[in-house]
Amino acid sequence: MTIVDIIEKKKQKQALTKEEINFFVKGFLSGEIKDYQASALLMAICLNDMTDEETMDLTFAMLESGDKIDLSMIKGTKVDKHSTGGVGDKTSIILAPLVASTGVSVAKMSGRGLGHTGGTIDKLEAISGFQTSLTQEEFINNVNDIGVALTGQTGNIAPADKKLYALRDVTGTVNSIPLIASSIMSKKLASGADKIVIDLKVGNGALVNNIDDARRLGHLMVKIGKKFSKDVICFLTNMNEPLGHNIGNGLEVLECIDVLNGKGPEDLKNLIEELASTMVSLGKNISKEEALKEVTDNLTNGKAYQKFLEFVERQHGDIHHITVSDKTLSVKSNKDGFITAINTLKLGELSRQLGAGRLNKEDVIDYGVGMVLNKKQGDFVMEGEELVKIYYNEKSIPLIDILNCFQIENDYKEKEPLIYEKIM
Ligand code: URA
Repeated sequence: MTIVDIIEKKKQKQALTKEEINFFVKGFLSGEIKDYQASALLMAICLNDMTDEETMDLTFAMLESGDKIDLSMIKGTKVDKHSTGGVGDKTSIILAPLVASTGVSVAKMSGRGLGHTGGTIDKLEAISGFQTSLTQEEFINNVNDIGVALTGQTGNIAPADKKLYALRDVTGTVNSIPLIASSIMSKKLASGADKIVIDLKVGNGALVNNIDDARRLGHLMVKIGKKFSKDVICFLTNMNEPLGHNIGNGLEVLECIDVLNGKGPEDLKNLIEELASTMVSLGKNISKEEALKEVTDNLTNGKAYQKFLEFVERQHGDIHHITVSDKTLSVKSNKDGFITAINTLKLGELSRQLGAGRLNKEDVIDYGVGMVLNKKQGDFVMEGEELVKIYYNEKSIPLIDILNCFQIENDYKEKEPLIYEKIM
């Protein structure tokens, strides 16, 4: 068996065997299979897809490529959450302390930015000193002591996914259903939670653009979960506009702090309430209504924010130093009208170009840059009014490109729902 034969086979649209998939994963991880060969196979998978069986085999191979976290030392039901990624998607930073503030343990492993989407770990690192790489012992101790810990994909958890993820980020091979499903599920299965809630983003700013593909991905992840005796609940949610107002690492942390203090934008708050109440109802085995009451109470009585402060301190972050650039520019509307559509992918790409994400594996993120949207879908804007404030530093982008992301029309257009459906 050679990697060239395997690439050829996928190029010919044939299904790979379990042995071929294992050969690829092992060889890539050991370095025998080179990045350029792995990129070719990834691209062939993107173009020619995989069967559910191949996806299961790939998930299993990546899961078995490293260690599995044993969370049995943590009391109670452990609930994990994962997002397939979007623009301005900062929910994990709010959910982790919020859910923990109700007494449900959150032991969460998160990722870095991928493609045009941001990543929780990069965002948290905008808090000066915040330690995103915990040993297994620190991870478990933190959850036992304060109910919450969040770590990057460190140690030896699904290392094959970690290496592939970084390669996919810079080779245009992110948005493939089997690659996304196996990437997410290998990590989630390795990180040991009992129940997994997945926020599957759908729309022009997501990795999955249409509802049919999202349904397929959702059912596939639930099916993989079942095979490993894990309950997976998948929410299909709207990513046809950025979530909340802020895009960019430091700016997003600031918006999370607003929500944790009972403020912040409606869409972000509503999504948080849905995901958090699901996690709390699973974790405590109580009704969704009871869970929602606890969640909304803790967002307004200070408990969620206190837990966030405890979490940041425990991971050595300095909450008084969140990096945000002081250089700003204003993008103003060139006409009156209603915002009827937003090119979310482009906004994500422009933020990445400003330095908020990586264009090459080695790139260093600029935590302070990004943008704040003053207007979202359905809002009325007047000519000359500020649509977006740009926070920049060393890199620049054409402001006209930002303006062109907004479709402004005379007639109001109904917004699509925030949550489309739930798959379980
Ligand atoms: N999140 C992941 O962890 N992996 C993907 O491939 C996409 C989103």
